[in-house]
Amino acid sequence: MQTLYLSADAPGCAETAAEIIRRGGLVAIPTETVYGLGANGLDETAVARIFEAKGRPQDNPLILHVAAPEEMESICHDIPPAAYALAKAYWPGPLTMVLPVKDIVPKRTTAGLDTVAVRCPDCAITRAIIRLSGVPIAAPSANLSGKPSTTTAEHVRHDHDGRIDAIVDGGPCRVGLESTIVDLTADRPRLLRPGGITPEQLTKVLGDLVVDKAVTAQIDKDAVVRAPGMKYRHYAPQEPVVIVAGSREKAAAYIRSHFEPGDRVLCFQEELPLYAGCDPLAYGEEADVNTLSAGLFAALRELDDPSIHKVYARCPTGGGVAYAVQNRLKKAAAFHIVNAEECL
Ligand code: TXA
Ligand code: MG
Repeated sequence: MQTLYLSADAPGCAETAAEIIRRGGLVAIPTETVYGLGANGLDETAVARIFEAKGRPQDNPLILHVAAPEEMESICHDIPPAAYALAKAYWPGPLTMVLPVKDIVPKRTTAGLDTVAVRCPDCAITRAIIRLSGVPIAAPSANLSGKPSTTTAEHVRHDHDGRIDAIVDGGPCRVGLESTIVDLTADRPRLLRPGGITPEQLTKVLGDLVVDKAVTAQIDKDAVVRAPGMKYRHYAPQEPVVIVAGSREKAAAYIRSHFEPGDRVLCFQEELPLYAGCDPLAYGEEADVNTLSAGLFAALRELDDPSIHKVYARCPTGGGVAYAVQNRLKKAAAFHIVNAEECL
């Protein structure tokens, strides 16, 4: 198959992409979080092609993307007031809500659950594609299953060239981490995945938030969890990643004393001079957490290289968007963290 490349600015881009979605094809779409691998979310055969292209386990449900907040009503029932309040505050934006699903959505999209994840992305071209296709678009992150998510069209080309119908190039993703997921179907709202909408922002609207244990700890692959995707090995390069916590100086001393040829260091821009000779790669500035979230997956992809033995990584501290960056890095490291303050 020849993959069609469409620039988001080119005339007719949204029409062409929507036409492919309508006939059951696969189109990689940009969003403010990461690129998604999109198909008609109401067409079981089209959805099956997503799972096949990604190599995604069948028990891992997809997010349905809508062009406008009120469209959630066509795929969800018994929508609580909290969902309307969150949509008003943060949609379009990097927030996904889990709500009771209507029968119109095929079981393959929801992996047989009685709930569905819904999101209205903050990306004009993708909302235009959804609107023109006339259906909600099911889209997981466009990476091959288990690989770091795709934050540029080039990442998608690398994983899927010749295997999907089209790629819409909307430039690099602004947030760079997948959306925040909040489950509104239980007694209390539950954070299933942190992202660009922070726990603080959710609590401000909801007044309450439980953090699911899949966010804070490694989940056994056979466990029954609320967000099936959270139990799979994620975001990780092939080699082991170790997070080194502690002050800039103590961490550098620890890493420099353990560093061996073939290892790499993933650090903040400000720390590059501390790692001369250790092949450091900066993923953003510690002083601006948005650069860290935007740069993390591209860096993890660059480090996904069989010639690398081990990666020592530096992780931002604190809440807000840093909480989401910590979550992805900890997952990439399989929660392997050493505290340099205690090691020296
Ligand atoms: O930012 C994003 O959310 C991106 C872009 C493309 O929108 N999409 C994305 O999709 O990250 P994916 O498939 O990589 O991650 C979706 C996560 C998975 O962990 C999945 O298990 C969970 O959402 N999920 C989907 N439906 C669910 C449901 N009904 N209940 C609980 N978790 C659900
Ligand atoms: Mg994903």
